[in-house]
Amino acid sequence: MAIERTFTMLKPGVLSRRIAGEIISRIERKGFDIIAAKLMRIPRALAEAHYEEHRGKPFFDELVAYITSGPVVAMVLEGDAAISMLRKLCGSTKAEEAAPGTIRGDYAMHTGLNIIHASDSVASAEREIGLFFKPEEIIDWKDGNDGWI
Ligand code: RTP
Ligand code: MG
Repeated sequence: MAIERTFTMLKPGVLSRRIAGEIISRIERKGFDIIAAKLMRIPRALAEAHYEEHRGKPFFDELVAYITSGPVVAMVLEGDAAISMLRKLCGSTKAEEAAPGTIRGDYAMHTGLNIIHASDSVASAEREIGLFFKPEEIIDWKDGNDGWI
């Protein structure tokens, strides 16, 4: 499998509910390397650019309002097939379809208050990482556990 980078964001509500540590713990324990992380309040223009593909859809305004409503934790993760691996760990978009054991399946009841974002393709990952992080904010490091996870 190829090493990939993906973009993830713990959406508002995660910090308010004090479950950021639990979610990050699941990401770490799965085996992703966290190579960039920051707490930020997303400016409206960035939120609209991030969800550009959904502009014009009925849920777009609500989605932008939600992700700008409080601080988020933005991260870049690295690992084998990281993009599809993280999508699997997050679970289905629709709350009622997210299987127990996945992050969405275990922590959220409402699709509109989805608690985590994960890039859905190589192109999205590259675009989203570039929107949220400067190259110098991404840290190339090794934890020495490659043989174990
Ligand atoms: P995300 O971008 O947040 O990681 O979620 P996703 O790829 O699994 O789903 P996407 O289709 O990109 O949708 C983005 C966010 O829009 C809201 N949504 N609502 N009412 C609806 O049918 C509907 N569909 C999507 C969700 O909050 C989803 O996280
Ligand atoms: Mg998406």
